[in-house]
Amino acid sequence: MSYSHLKSEAYINEERQYFAPTGRIQYADIGFVKGNGATLTDMDGNTYIDLLASASVANVGHCHPKVVNAIKKQAEQLVHNTPAYFTHNLVLELQKRLTNITPGQFPKKVIFGNSGSDANDGMIKYARAYTGRQNIITFTDAYHGSTFGAITESAVSLNMRRNMGPFVPGIYQLPFPDENEKLPQEDEIAFSERYLDHFRLAFRTYLPPEEVAAILIEPIQGDGGIRQLPFYFVKELYALCQEHGILFMVDEVNQGLARSGKMWSIDHFDIAPDLLATGKSLAAGLPLSAIVGRAEIMNSLPAPGHCFTTAGNPICCAASLATLDIIEEEELMEKSACDGEYVKAKLQAMQEVYPFIKRVRMYGLNGGIELVVEENNQSANTDCANKVMTYLLNHGVIMITLAGNILRFQPPLVITREELDRALSLLEAAFKAYRNGEIVLDTNQPIGW
Ligand SMILES: Cc1ncc(COP(=O)(O)O)c(C=O)c1O
Repeated sequence: MSYSHLKSEAYINEERQYFAPTGRIQYADIGFVKGNGATLTDMDGNTYIDLLASASVANVGHCHPKVVNAIKKQAEQLVHNTPAYFTHNLVLELQKRLTNITPGQFPKKVIFGNSGSDANDGMIKYARAYTGRQNIITFTDAYHGSTFGAITESAVSLNMRRNMGPFVPGIYQLPFPDENEKLPQEDEIAFSERYLDHFRLAFRTYLPPEEVAAILIEPIQGDGGIRQLPFYFVKELYALCQEHGILFMVDEVNQGLARSGKMWSIDHFDIAPDLLATGKSLAAGLPLSAIVGRAEIMNSLPAPGHCFTTAGNPICCAASLATLDIIEEEELMEKSACDGEYVKAKLQAMQEVYPFIKRVRMYGLNGGIELVVEENNQSANTDCANKVMTYLLNHGVIMITLAGNILRFQPPLVITREELDRALSLLEAAFKAYRNGEIVLDTNQPIGW
């Protein structure tokens, strides 16, 4: 039985008169009223297994009782007092926790913000101030956010560039090593070297390395398709940074906080970055971000160089401390790694049956399922991705697409085995229905990114 979305549709139709279109990437007209663990309930009373976690925001699940209690308790004590002028009693504990759980045995400092975007923006400021250099290098297909600095660091959608320039000067994008571009017989080293050559060429011809302040990476690209950088590539890139005095910065907004089976996605590479940006799941969905960095770098700017009135809000800090407790107590890092392997095996079995599944990438409970046109095993199959997504949304699973042809697999990390099994069996049913030509799209509008 297919779900009815009549109430959601009526609501969203009216909402469109007020909601500026820039603020929503259109997938389907569904509005939620309730969340619990790894499930969501919509305006029509349908319940779903959530494979999106509100874009990797609900790592500890929706409305975790510990988070809810922490919010309630703090709301009765102090709703806000800005750390920009005075302080409150949760700032120190959270900053200590963050400096302890981030990689690197050196003195660190923390600054809070309200979104992943402002954290990535702020890292530009610190990198420039500390090094006295202007330029920053990021990657194609990167998503770092929506403030001016973060948009300039991103290169994933032309709609983030059209009609709003000029952008922040001194930010360059070099090609992300996309495994679809790997040549036959090319191993990881040869493939990585070919992409490292873009840096060497830049440093030889138009971008003096001594004028580069920092390189910013997502060790696992999120919106680019859940794609991990090759190990060799990252090690060599880090060495290049060391050689030229360039800061190494990581964006952990999407992939941090146990999502990838480690606390941070950079932990897969055993590298301690100079600056790290976190957000999203940091306060279980309440607006809180942070930059955690080497103390000497974080000391390089005076106030009010990166200062927001509501950053470090006490309720957000309380939710964040509860979130970090839950990740530890419920061993979500280990669970993510273990469940990720379980899901990967199931998806690989589906790949045997459905050749339009070109790649299954899973890093913890965190995956991209890349769909191609079966006939040439190459062209992006957005039709399949959109139809599979539509089937799932009509049968009780929240899943969306990335880059048009990649299914995004990012459930709350607290998802149970039963819920995973049910979601996977519905996903298999969706693949089957697609192959049998049974899924009809009910919209002519563009879907997704
Ligand atoms: C890797 C990454 N960085 C930064 C951001 C921006 O975070 P926010 O939307 O909280 O500003 C996102 C959001 O999707 C992200 O995935």
